[in-house]
Amino acid sequence: MTIPMRIGVAGAGAIGRKHVELIEASPDCVVAGIADPSDEARAFAKAHRISCYSHHRQLLEQEKLDGMVIASPNALHLTMALDCVGHGVPALVEKPVTDTVASAQRLQRAVQRSGVPVLVGHHRRHNPMVKAARERIADGQLGRLTAVVGLWLLKKPDDYFDTAWRREPGGGPVLINLVHDIDNLRFICGEIVEVQALVSNKVRGFAVEDTAALLLKFANGAIGTLTGSDATPAPWSWELSSGENAAYPRQNQPCYLFAGTNGSLSLPTMELWSYRDQSGWSAPLARADVSAAVLDPLAEQLRHFRAVVAGSETPLISVEDAMGTLAVIEAVQEAARTGASVSPGQIMEQAA
Ligand SMILES: NC(=O)c1ccc[n+]([C@@H]2O[C@H](COP(=O)([O-])OP(=O)(O)OC[C@H]3O[C@@H](n4cnc5c(N)ncnc54)[C@H](O)[C@@H]3O)[C@@H](O)[C@H]2O)c1
Repeated sequence: MTIPMRIGVAGAGAIGRKHVELIEASPDCVVAGIADPSDEARAFAKAHRISCYSHHRQLLEQEKLDGMVIASPNALHLTMALDCVGHGVPALVEKPVTDTVASAQRLQRAVQRSGVPVLVGHHRRHNPMVKAARERIADGQLGRLTAVVGLWLLKKPDDYFDTAWRREPGGGPVLINLVHDIDNLRFICGEIVEVQALVSNKVRGFAVEDTAALLLKFANGAIGTLTGSDATPAPWSWELSSGENAAYPRQNQPCYLFAGTNGSLSLPTMELWSYRDQSGWSAPLARADVSAAVLDPLAEQLRHFRAVVAGSETPLISVEDAMGTLAVIEAVQEAARTGASVSPGQIMEQAA
């Protein structure tokens, strides 16, 4: 019988508790302890019969950890991940990898020096349909990719905004939600090299945006748009379209459209459209269902993390890769502020 892996969880809030439950449900690993200074986390740990520490370094020093999940507020990711690397403990860091590109660069250097693996929690990449879309585009099944449409349109409940930071810059759709879509689009279509952006707070009037429209240019020459709003009853968002999270009622609607010279693909509906014999706008279009397997991406992420800890797999989302997603977000923020076109590469250079 193999000894279960001992995994610590730093930050036991909304997503940290989900990680605890997934680890508890897995026969191959156990929760070695939680680090979180809040009374709620202490009560949660007690109910689950798990040791609780108020500081992540106590957890690192007092429990013999094989791996650590970091699910604390963004500003703490860097310190916690550096401490894990310093103790030789592989980490799964929730997204975004850190709060700034400059911090991500620091972490990247530490990972490179130490060789201790760090996986970043952009868990949607573990969804088989995201992997399938990436493979179909890479295989050239759509021909040359020309245009991409992404939508993230839904309505957050009014009491979501009772929490002060959600009304402030950084607490809105761009950093909290579109970061997932940007990461998905980078993974599926390749690097984003230029962005333009408009944001608006006209619905709620808070300091943070409620709506954003982005123009994206990809390294392969494709261009795209990503439009987001958290103030509209609509079915077109990864949350409602993918059925990935049972908390959101699934709608059979696409939220991404990928257009190529030989065909087009919708996601998560997974419809591949192409011509058979003749082509042209009056020729009949054939629709093929190219559905991929259904798998809980959070459970798959944990399986992958265990393999990363065991040394049999390398992180699907490295610190360097996740830093690319964060650089696009910082480019979007600068583009929205200045009205200029901004390259994520420029953001990386400025942060170095
Ligand atoms: N992958 C996803 O889909 C997803 C979803 C939600 C959140 N997240 C990410 O997970 C992280 C946490 O988000 P959340 O929504 O769970 O936030 P949350 O506010 O619900 O939880 C954060 C927890 O961290 C704890 N904490 C604060 N200071 C700490 C410290 N010094 N040491 C240890 N714990 C500390 C808090 O007490 C709280 O329990 C963020 O980075 C967020 O972006 C990812």
